[in-house]
Amino acid sequence: MMEYFAVEGGWPLEGQVPVHGAKNSALPILAATLLADGESIIHNCPSLTDCAAALEILSCLGCRVRREGETVVVNTACRRGHTIPDDLMGRMRASVLFLGPLLARDGAATACWPGGCALGARPIDLHIQAFQALGAQGRSWNGQLFFHAPTGLSGCRIVLPIPSVGATENAMLAACGAQGLTILDNPAREPEIVDLQNFLRCLGARVEGAGTGRIAIQGGCPLHPGEYRVMADRIVSATYLCAVACAGGEGELLGTDGAHLGPVLAALTAAGCEIGRAPDRLQIRRIGALRGFGALRTGPYPAFPTDAQPLLGAVAAGAWGQSRITETIFDRRFRYLEGLTAMGAAVQTEGDTACFSGRTLHGAQVEATDLRGGAALTLAALGARGESRIYGLPHIDRGYQGLEGSLAALGGRIRRETRQEAGC
Ligand code: UD1
Repeated sequence: MMEYFAVEGGWPLEGQVPVHGAKNSALPILAATLLADGESIIHNCPSLTDCAAALEILSCLGCRVRREGETVVVNTACRRGHTIPDDLMGRMRASVLFLGPLLARDGAATACWPGGCALGARPIDLHIQAFQALGAQGRSWNGQLFFHAPTGLSGCRIVLPIPSVGATENAMLAACGAQGLTILDNPAREPEIVDLQNFLRCLGARVEGAGTGRIAIQGGCPLHPGEYRVMADRIVSATYLCAVACAGGEGELLGTDGAHLGPVLAALTAAGCEIGRAPDRLQIRRIGALRGFGALRTGPYPAFPTDAQPLLGAVAAGAWGQSRITETIFDRRFRYLEGLTAMGAAVQTEGDTACFSGRTLHGAQVEATDLRGGAALTLAALGARGESRIYGLPHIDRGYQGLEGSLAALGGRIRRETRQEAGC
């Protein structure tokens, strides 16, 4: 059996949709629960397959885990072992974030290389360098990574050559268990890093500076379990906004005010959408036909987020006029263009830049090749004339809690259906 989205495109949207909790906050926060013994309560933790994998990792490490709706309770009192099973490491990139807390708590961590969306080369050298700077010794043998710090971790100064989100988070997590002060220079400044800092503070950690060019962590403080609410997902917000841009009409997002979305809102405004912001809600209305939005370039926060790049690609494909998107973070993040081309998009790539000349899109049968690329194809299908089928839903379910239900709440004609395989 294979699931797909059946989309009837070409109908303007009208509706309201709540924005669920941020995957990229929830994952490091779930890993951080390992730092304190006892029961931590995480609210607004989205039901995503990536979060389910994180909870499985915690279970395999002896934690008791239960989900009650959007709330997850993690009891680490019976935590044991420091090895993450291979199949869970392979399921997502963020499984690497469990290494930092394990090193902080046990002075040891073992895992194979992490999986995740195939967006190009995704090394973890900066994570490893941060662990080594803190005093861990690492070796790799037979596909496994072994880290241990026989005399414990010690605070130090770490300068990241590029502001990697994951390496920043892992360094913060490991540094909580190091003796003394760690200074992290040139860290990632993404809002999810600030969310992690806030959770660590709620556990009693002394961390400051997240969101700036320097984070300071005073390690070795006694930590206790905490209760915390994960921030709204800014990329999910961008997805709903781009859905309205692609299909036309108007929509309202609940539970977000558009903070952290500046460059996305600017591109959508340039494409002919009107944005209304109010406390805890965000409105969008498309005025007339979509226009090309000119040029945008992805980069580390506060620049245009790479995760929203494919979503704006869907907007550009159905807009009148020229748009150019330059991707500077991941070298294989244009694979969704094949699906857009099958829908009639006029797009050419030159190196790290995709140049779109607007077209009217038509429905097609396409395959998601990664999480945000799959969402982009779904949005394009909402704006395309006729019917589309989007396959490859396991990619999309990694980061969206029932994307079809959310887009239907916005007025989209979309259903999840199942194709019986021949012979089943
Ligand atoms: C996180 C997000 C992902 C987002 C990305 C960039 C999570 C779970 N995922 O991924 O959705 O697309 O940030 O905003 O939060 N790099 C190295 N060496 C390293 C680590 C990274 O060279 O050790 C490079 C990567 O190849 C990439 C760049 O740094 O080119 C940025 O990657 P990074 O910020 O680490 O992304 P992730 O943490 O994997």
